[in-house]
Formats: sequence, C-alpha cells, structure tokens
Amino acid sequence: MSEILQAIASRRATKHFDPEYRIADADLTAILEAARRAPTAFNIQNYRFLVVRDAEQRRRIRAAAWDQPQVEECSALIVMCADIKAWEKDPARYWKDAPEAVRDGYVGMIRSYYEGREQVQRDEGFRSCGLAAYALMMAASAYGLQTCPMDGFDFDRVGEIINLPSDHEIVMFVALGREASAPRPRGGVLPLDAVVQYDSFA
Ligand SMILES: Cc1cc2nc3c(=O)[nH]c(=O)nc-3n(C[C@H](O)[C@H](O)[C@H](O)COP(=O)(O)O)c2cc1C
Repeated sequence: MSEILQAIASRRATKHFDPEYRIADADLTAILEAARRAPTAFNIQNYRFLVVRDAEQRRRIRAAAWDQPQVEECSALIVMCADIKAWEKDPARYWKDAPEAVRDGYVGMIRSYYEGREQVQRDEGFRSCGLAAYALMMAASAYGLQTCPMDGFDFDRVGEIINLPSDHEIVMFVALGREASAPRPRGGVLPLDAVVQYDSFA
C-alpha cells in the first residue's frame, strides 16, 4: 500500500498526548506549510492557522472545551479559522505570480462570486479549513505524529480567548503531538454502500 493510503487508513483521533513531547519548530513549520497547500476556491487561501503553545492560553481554552485533556497535553494546538472576508482583501495578491490578464480576470470573478453572498463566503471558509485540517493531519502522520480533530468547545468563549477578529470564524481545532497510549478499537465503520451512491440518490 502506498504511504499515503497507509497514513489515511491508520489515522486515529488521539485522546491522550505525551505532555512531555515538544515538536521542533522546523517540523511544525513544515506541517503548516503542507496544510497551506490545501486547495481553495479561486485560490483565495482563506484559512488562518492560530497555533497555541502558551500554557496559560491552553489552560483557558481547555476550560472552554469541556476539560478535554488533548488541549493541554498536545504539543501544538492549532485553531483552524476562516477569514470570511478574505475574498475582498486585496484579491490580486492571490494571483500575484500569474500574468496580469489572468490576475485581473480572477479578481473580477472573485468579486462577482462572493459580493453580497454572506452564506457562500462562510461556507467557502469552512470548506477551505476542512481541507486544510485534513492536509495538516496527513502531514503530521508523515512526521510520525498523531492528531485529534476537535469541535467540542464553546466557540464564543474560545473566540474571546484568542481575540478572534470579527470577520473570522473558528472552524475547528487540530491537536497535534505524540500519542501517549494506543487508541481504543474503532467505534465502527459504515459499509461502503451506506455512504456511496452512484449518479443520483435512490
Ligand atoms: C469535526 C470533528 C470534531 C471532533 N471533535 C472531537 C472532540 O471534540 N473531542 C474528541 O475527543 N474527538 C473529536 N473528534 C474525533 C472523532 O470522535 C473521531 O474522529 C471519530 O470518532 C472517529 O474516530 P477515528 O478518528 O479514531 O477514526 C472530532 C472529529 C471531527 C471530524
């Protein structure tokens, strides 16, 4: 099996991380670099990764996350945020390396697609962060590390703790580190035909 398929098949949500383990800065940067290669519509790169390493911030966030230990025990807690207004913030920068005509074309398309469409702006941010979160999780596997995707927390309280800008939304956490114990057996996987349909729903 290819290493990518192996990483997908073996990934589990880690419930207990080794609190003594510290990820090297270079490894964390490489994992974040991989995550930001995740695709976004019109290349607007509307994901923002807030890396929480400060112990006091972690303690406060844990208290807003039903006391889940991963928040403090992981080596890096990454709050995946969407910049809902990325589409209108100098969109030419998303196409800075493209020929001028291509860049101008995209700037026009971005404006006409997102302007006045609040739900689309938000949905797009969540799509982008979901893809980036999984890319981050797979990159962590490549470094021999484990992750836990999380949304078990009070979004408003965490937003206050991290000073979330008013035009951003928290999408989820990815806790990242070295697992302290083997995961429990899987809870259950649906049969493929329960999740895959062809051509239309019956
Ligand atoms: C969006 C999302 C939110 C989750 N939130 C939490 C969480 O708050 N705490 C937790 O321990 N696990 C959380 N999980 C992990 C799931 O419980 C886990 O992925 C699922 O049970 C399948 O197990 P596996 O990932 O080990 O295959 C979350 C997963 C996702 C995708």
